[in-house]
Amino acid sequence: MTGRLEGKVAFITGIARGQGRSHAIRLASEGADIVGLDICAPVDDVPYDPATPEDLAETVRLVEETGRRIIAEQADVRDAEALGALAQRGVDELGGIDVVAANAGICIPATWDATTPRIWANHMDINVTGVWNTVMATAPHLIQRGGGSIIITSSYAGKKMQPWMIHYTTSKHALVGMTRGFASELGRHNIRVNSVHPGGVNTPMGSGDMINALQRASAGTEALSTMGTPFLPKWVAEPEEISAVVAFLASDETPWITAEHISVDGGQQHF
Ligand SMILES: NC(=O)c1ccc[n+]([C@@H]2O[C@H](COP(=O)([O-])OP(=O)(O)OC[C@H]3O[C@@H](n4cnc5c(N)ncnc54)[C@H](O)[C@@H]3O)[C@@H](O)[C@H]2O)c1
Repeated sequence: MTGRLEGKVAFITGIARGQGRSHAIRLASEGADIVGLDICAPVDDVPYDPATPEDLAETVRLVEETGRRIIAEQADVRDAEALGALAQRGVDELGGIDVVAANAGICIPATWDATTPRIWANHMDINVTGVWNTVMATAPHLIQRGGGSIIITSSYAGKKMQPWMIHYTTSKHALVGMTRGFASELGRHNIRVNSVHPGGVNTPMGSGDMINALQRASAGTEALSTMGTPFLPKWVAEPEEISAVVAFLASDETPWITAEHISVDGGQQHF
């Protein structure tokens, strides 16, 4: 599949691995050049393995294998100045920005009474303010291009609650409001803003001590674990299944879709 995003430049956060890497490869394979970043370092209290600079280098290799260009930097979405500088670099070297995928995020299982101020603050700073920083750094460049598409990665936890992570659920619900707000004000610039809501996805977010952390948090309230049961006959999506929806929203095939919240969860949000 080539061509649907020919001539476009996509700015993506959290590209070292997982869904961000998959989005970069998919958008590049459809013709987009990529500007991306990843923290490539541990975040306090996160129980799964951190992404590394080697992961980021592998994403660069995989995107270049598609024949497209990529600018990739190690940066933190909490650092608005770094995001602004990278967006400007993308414009200077690749000609502009048309598509934004605000994908970077963290997820730390913890019951309500085990959630520390630091866990709460990191979810707000990365999952909410980090997405706001990403849109703020890039939207002026989309306006410059005469329009574009912004895709914000929320979660099924942004539509219903996900047990044992009030902080994560709160952060992902906040992105629904942010999507609607940006869509309403950026619409006059021909910029569409939508959120995607994956259910479980097979990424390194499930690595390290994540499964044990979830099991520890669920002790005593195991009945809640049936929430989020998919209707379809598997439990998790592959990252490429989310990327297909991101590519669709990034493309000119969806000129009349904005302020929408698209679930890619096998029906999980309904259970
Ligand atoms: N995996 C799932 O089951 C699932 C389900 C629903 C939603 N999501 C969301 O999808 C998005 C992608 O997650 P994933 O599954 O690919 O997990 P992942 O951990 O493999 O990828 C997330 C990437 O974001 C990067 N990152 C984290 N904090 C950052 C920061 N402060 N600055 C820059 N980069 C940062 C990480 O280093 C990592 O490479 C996240 O927003 C996550 O909340 C994941």
